[in-house]
Order: sequence, then C-alpha cells, then structure tokens
Amino acid sequence: MAQQTIESLQRACPELELTTAPDLLARHGQDWTRFREPRPSAVAFPKDTDQVCSLVARAAELGVALVPSGGRTGLSGGAVAAHGEVVVAMDRMRRIIGFDPVDRLLTVEAGVVTGAIQQRARELDLAYPVSFASEGSAQIGGNIATNAGGIRVMRYGLTRDRVAGLKVVDGRGRLLDLNRGLVKNASGYDLRHLMIGSEGTLGIIVEATLSLVAAPSPSRVMLLGVGSMTQIPEVMRALREGLALSACEFFSESCLELVCLARGLPRPLETPCPYYLLVEFDAPESGAEAAVERALALFEALSVSGRVRDGVLSQSESQAAGLWAYREAISESAAPFIPYKNDLSVRLSAMPDFLLALDQRVSALFPEATVLWYGHVGDGNLHLNILKPETVETPVFERTCKQASAQLYELTRKFGGSVSAEHGIGLLKAPFLPYVRSDVEIELMRGIKRVFDPRGILNPGKLL
Ligand code: MLT
Ligand code: ZN
Repeated sequence: MAQQTIESLQRACPELELTTAPDLLARHGQDWTRFREPRPSAVAFPKDTDQVCSLVARAAELGVALVPSGGRTGLSGGAVAAHGEVVVAMDRMRRIIGFDPVDRLLTVEAGVVTGAIQQRARELDLAYPVSFASEGSAQIGGNIATNAGGIRVMRYGLTRDRVAGLKVVDGRGRLLDLNRGLVKNASGYDLRHLMIGSEGTLGIIVEATLSLVAAPSPSRVMLLGVGSMTQIPEVMRALREGLALSACEFFSESCLELVCLARGLPRPLETPCPYYLLVEFDAPESGAEAAVERALALFEALSVSGRVRDGVLSQSESQAAGLWAYREAISESAAPFIPYKNDLSVRLSAMPDFLLALDQRVSALFPEATVLWYGHVGDGNLHLNILKPETVETPVFERTCKQASAQLYELTRKFGGSVSAEHGIGLLKAPFLPYVRSDVEIELMRGIKRVFDPRGILNPGKLL
C-alpha cells in the first residue's frame, strides 16, 4: 500500500496510533496458523470507539482493506493479514466499563482478555462460563467474532448465549448499538446475532455487554480409560444419565503421550488405554458424598461391563486442575508439529456412526501418521489433528491433507455435520464452506456482507 494512503488514514484520524514497525507488522499480521506470511501495510491501535469509526469511514472512502485483530489465537486464519491490509488491533481497548448487579451484565471493551472477564466475574461472586485453552490471551471481541465455544458448552452454551448487547462499527464507519442488554426484544432482525460468528466481515466489534451466570457449585473431575472409539459415546451416555455433567471431553492415547512428553507429566492412569474420557460433574457441598458415590458406582458398572479399563477421581481442586491439564495442553503440545487440524461437529445422536466412519477413513488416508483424536465430545465437537510422518515430504503431506479434507468434509456432510464447530471458517476453510452451507445460503450471506460492508473492506477473503 502506498505511503500516501497510510498518511491519508493518519490525517483522517490524527490521534490514532498507526505504525509500520516491521516487528509489529509481523506479529499482528498472523494468528496461531502458520500457513501464510504476514504482510500487513500498517497496524492501527485505536484507543476508543470514535477512532475506530473515523478509521473505518476513511478506509471505506479509500478502499483500504482492514483486518480486525484480537488476541490472534485463531486456528483458521481469520486474523491473518497477508495482502497489505491495515490490521485494526484492539489491544488499547481493554477497559472493563461497568457491571450492573440487577441485570448481572458486565460491559467491556473488545480488547479485554477472556481470562480477565472470568476473573472479574469471580470477584463479583458470579461466573463468565465460556472457557477454552487460549483464554489467557484471546480477546472477547475475537471470541464473539468466532462465537467461541470451548469446554463447558454442554452446560452453558456458546459465546453467543452470553452476549446481551454489542456495539459494532459497520463497513462505512457507523456505530451500531445492538440489543442494549435486553432479555426480550421482539423488534425484528436481531443484528447482534448476525454479528456473532461473522469473523469480522460485517463489522468491527468495539464493546460487548455480557450476561454472567451464578458461580458454579463445587465439582469433581473423573478421568476414565476407554477401550475403543465406539465405546466413547456409550460411556458418555451412561455418565450423563447418572451425573450432572458440566464438561465431557475425550482424547486418544497419542494425545496423552504427546502431552506427557511436552509437559514432563506422569501418566494419570496405570493402564494405558486407547482413549480417555474426562468428565467434570457437580458435587455441591450438600450432596457431594452422594455425587461421588454415584460416580464410583458408575465406574464400577462400566468396568464390569468391560467398557472402562481404569479411572481416577479428583480428591481436591488442584488434582482436578491437574487432570484437566492432560486435556487442555493437547493443542499447544501439538503446535510445534504443525498438524493438519480438523474441527468437526455432528449431532450427538449421529456421533457413534460418525466416529466409526471417520476412523476408518482416516486410517485409510493416513496409514503411517500419528493421529490425535480429542475434543468436546459432550457437545458433538471432534478435533482431529494429524501429524506429518517424518518419512513423508512436506509437499506430499500437504497434498494428501488437501485431498483428505474433501473426503472428510464430504463424510461430515453425509452425517449432517459442520466442517467448523468452533474455530471458524477464516481463510483456511473458506474453500470448503459449500460442504456445510447451501448455494442459496452462501448467496444470501454475500448479500448480507454487501449491506454491512458495501466497499468490501472488512476482512476480505475470510469466510466467504
Ligand atoms: C481445543 O479444544 O483444544 C481447542 O479448540 C484448540 C484445538 O483444537 O487445537
Ligand atoms: Zn476445542
């Protein structure tokens, strides 16, 4: 982009911090994916909503592409700027604006880190229950733009379910104040929900009003070793019927080996098992003993029937956190291997057959590779990561992965599922959108994009 254009943006917003420092361009031009060289022209650090409005209005006049950027922990390339765009980083908009105890609503700027919101909620004796491995650096604006899910969706739902109000700057620089924290608002199209999950293609989120929930009751964590893929849904079902589950996660032995090696952790169970299920269940003070007894009885019954081979139940909060670490460290432990990542979802009822079909297809496609199976099995979300075998050249592996995507996504479509459960479409999965959305839907989505962003400057190339 010409220096002149950057100067013109700066003249329109004289107070705006706009930099072309190479280290900041490199850092802010990429997310956790590493498949494109970051090449933004500049990075803007607005410090308030007015600056975002002026920047977007001027960018629209000049036809300058903008990439909204939060904590850049995304896994689909949604925040990648590889074509001379201007990155709009929300790092200077980190104010917690206020809390209303009657409404239990917390209002924050878009750059507030998810973990800081959870912490503020705890100080208020409440909870912000959306939780995932990257919550220490992900920002709420990015969470909303991708409708982040994570580990407790089966109990609390997605980010979408927590957003009571949203301030967003559209593609012409106009500020929208959407829903204003109302519980009921039957006044036509809910533009707030259109913005949630729109991956920065319809507007730049500048402020969010979040509904907090009651602090969770004490819980226990149980880790079970399971003998086969097909037994995972069966074991999960039995546990769900007997216990009040707030999370149900699974991972394969290959994940456990990787995490133990990367983190220097001991194995959690004596018996190595092909798969592990980790459940978190309510054990409220008044009924803790009964909940634990039920959990132990279930373990016993599942062991006798041969579906569970070994298990451990947390006896303290720190033991529970220790068990969670085996699941939460998987993504980070796999990252150095630059895995081929998948983020699929199906309805719970379709999961047994889907898992079986997927397993067969993956074994046929990648006979030599290490396959990492893990995910939020309690809500139907499977993360499937495949590591490149050392003996296979990178271009060959990439070609196989591309062919594999078509096959795996076709299979997912057959089971009525989605090719992106929670990571978003971004750049990486944009070519595969037709596997989950019909032609008519995509045409309507393009039309919606034109209404909010007529110049096509907001995160071009992402999602659509
Ligand atoms: C997870 O569940 O660990 C995250 O979605 C990250 C990942 O899938 O790698
Ligand atoms: Zn996940």
